Amino acid sequence: TRKIIIDTDPGQDDAVAILLALGSPELDLLAVTAVAGNVPLPLTAVNARKVCELANRRDIAVHAGCDAPLSQPLVTAEHVHGKTGLDGTDLPDPTMPLAEEHGVDAIIRLVREGAPGEITICALGPLTNVATALTRAPDIAARIGGIVLMGGAYFEVGNITPTAEFNIYVDPEAAEIVFSSGIPITVLPLDLTHKALIDRTRLDAIRALGTPVAEAACGWLDFYERFDVKKYGGDGGPLHDPCVIAYLLKPDLFTGREINVEIETEGRFTRGMTVADWWGVTDRKANATFIGGLDADGFFSLLTERIGRL
Ligand code: BDR
Ligand code: CA
Repeated sequence: TRKIIIDTDPGQDDAVAILLALGSPELDLLAVTAVAGNVPLPLTAVNARKVCELANRRDIAVHAGCDAPLSQPLVTAEHVHGKTGLDGTDLPDPTMPLAEEHGVDAIIRLVREGAPGEITICALGPLTNVATALTRAPDIAARIGGIVLMGGAYFEVGNITPTAEFNIYVDPEAAEIVFSSGIPITVLPLDLTHKALIDRTRLDAIRALGTPVAEAACGWLDFYERFDVKKYGGDGGPLHDPCVIAYLLKPDLFTGREINVEIETEGRFTRGMTVADWWGVTDRKANATFIGGLDADGFFSLLTERIGRL
């Protein structure tokens, strides 16, 4: 099994990503660290626990991390995820307690406790927690096996500004710290997630599982899907964050290549843009594996099968 930490701002797609991890015996989820993003931290910390309880995993340690980006006020996305961040299925308030330890301290401790290279960080929201851990404890960079993150965009450009993807835009300074850390980074940008469209047929396949977990997931996805279909006019909304977990489970479903990615922290119109040197026109060294290709049917059958285990 691979040991992972999920850093997240649930978010319907984050919630489904957590379910995918919990339904997958290949992954050992050491902790969930909540961060401010789609909605403020008090809500993401509640939502993460709701999802664990839904999957009957009250044993998972859920930590609250940073409540604001490193150097700018928080930007949220209630227009996508609803007021609670998890609109679409109402779950009871969690009864499992929030871990006392701060999310950043948990990341530092777990990485130090693990063998070098043993722990992979799955980052599904703004990178504030991860960057703060790296700044506070630079020794952990050499011990982190890899960071697989949903964020950024290349050909597909932005979803929160014309050039920036939400997770990077919310905390560009944090993203810059992560991308320059020297840790092996795998980036799953909008270019990839816009190939993971949750259309009616795929949603029905999950619903047909007939379990409470499947029903909850479909409520979320339905809410989320309707929003994005309206916006993008495509087959269904992009299911961003579960791609991170699926990548760890079945990397063969994905294709990409190593390139240099820099984070724009200044641009007047382009703050938060991932400047990806796809064609190798600079001599900047590759610092990330940029994933762009997806076997979408393979991805959705994996997701459906794993949700069916919960
Ligand atoms: C990302 O932003 C959030 O709204 C989603 O949860 C995902 O992590 C997509 O840009
Ligand atoms: Ca997210």
